[in-house]
Amino acid sequence: MLLEVANLTVCYDKAMLLNNLSLRVDQGELVSLVGPNGAGKSTLLRAITGLVLREREITRRSTGGDVMIKGRVTFDGERIDRIPAHEIVKRGLIHCPERRRPFREMTVGENLYAGAYLLQDRSRIQANLDNVYQLFPILQKRSRQISGTLSGGEQQMLAIGRALMSQPKLLCIDEPSTGLAPILRAEVFEKIGEIRRLGITVLLVEQEVGTVFKMASRNYVLSSGNIIAEGTGDELLQNEVLRKTYLGL
Ligand SMILES: Nc1ncnc2c1ncn2[C@@H]1O[C@H](COP(=O)(O)OP(=O)(O)O)[C@@H](O)[C@H]1O
Ligand SMILES: [Mg+2]
Repeated sequence: MLLEVANLTVCYDKAMLLNNLSLRVDQGELVSLVGPNGAGKSTLLRAITGLVLREREITRRSTGGDVMIKGRVTFDGERIDRIPAHEIVKRGLIHCPERRRPFREMTVGENLYAGAYLLQDRSRIQANLDNVYQLFPILQKRSRQISGTLSGGEQQMLAIGRALMSQPKLLCIDEPSTGLAPILRAEVFEKIGEIRRLGITVLLVEQEVGTVFKMASRNYVLSSGNIIAEGTGDELLQNEVLRKTYLGL
C-alpha cells in the first residue's frame, strides 16, 4: 500500500468538509475520485498533501478561525498527516492542483526546472527533463515561450510536466480536463495513461466519469464529504441509483 487515509475528518469552523473517510492507493494503481461539485474532492487532495494543515496555521494567525483535521495519512510506510507540505513533496507525493497554474511570467523551460527544485543532481534533472519532453513534445517545441501565452491545453500539459520533474511516487491530479475542448481532454487522458505506464501511481480527480472509469483500477465516489461507493467502473455502473444521482450517467 502506497497511500492510506484512515478516518480523515476536516472541518472549517463549523462546516464539515470531509467526514471520517478512509481510502487506499496501492503501488502502480490509477485510482479515481469522482463526485458532484462541492463534494470535497479537492479538499481531500489538499488534506493529503499538507495544504489543509498549512491553511490551518494561516487561518489561526489571520482570522482566529479554526480548521480541524483528524485522522491518519500514511504514505510509503510513514505517517505524513502532521508534517508540512514541503516535506511531503520531498517524499514523492506531488499535487497538481485544480486550474492549471504555471508561473505565467516564466518560460516553459524555466517552469519545468522550477518543478525540480528539490533535486540536486544535474544529470538527474536533465534526465527528468528529457522524459517530460518525450512525453510532451509540444513543451520542448515551446521551451523558450512565456508560459502565460500558452493555450489552455498546453498550460495543463505544462502543469503536469512540472509535477513530473520532481519524480513523483504518487501524482495527485485535480480535474486536469476541466475547461478544455474535447480533443484536448482526450489528449490529457492519453498522457495520464502514459504516465501510469511509466510506473507512476496516480490519484485522479475528474468530472469526466465515463472516461476515468475505463482507465482507473478502482474508483471512489465522494458526496458531501463522505465516500458513498468504491469499486471498479463496471461495478459502480451496475448501481442505477449511483449512476443517475451521483455520476450523471
Ligand atoms: N477554505 C474553505 N473554507 C470553507 N469552506 C470551504 C473552503 N474550501 C472549500 N470549502 C467548501 O468545502 C466544500 C468542498 O469543496 P471542494 O473540496 O472544493 O469540493 P470539490 O473539489 O469536490 O468540488 C464546498 O462546499 C466548498 O464550498
Ligand atoms: Mg475541486
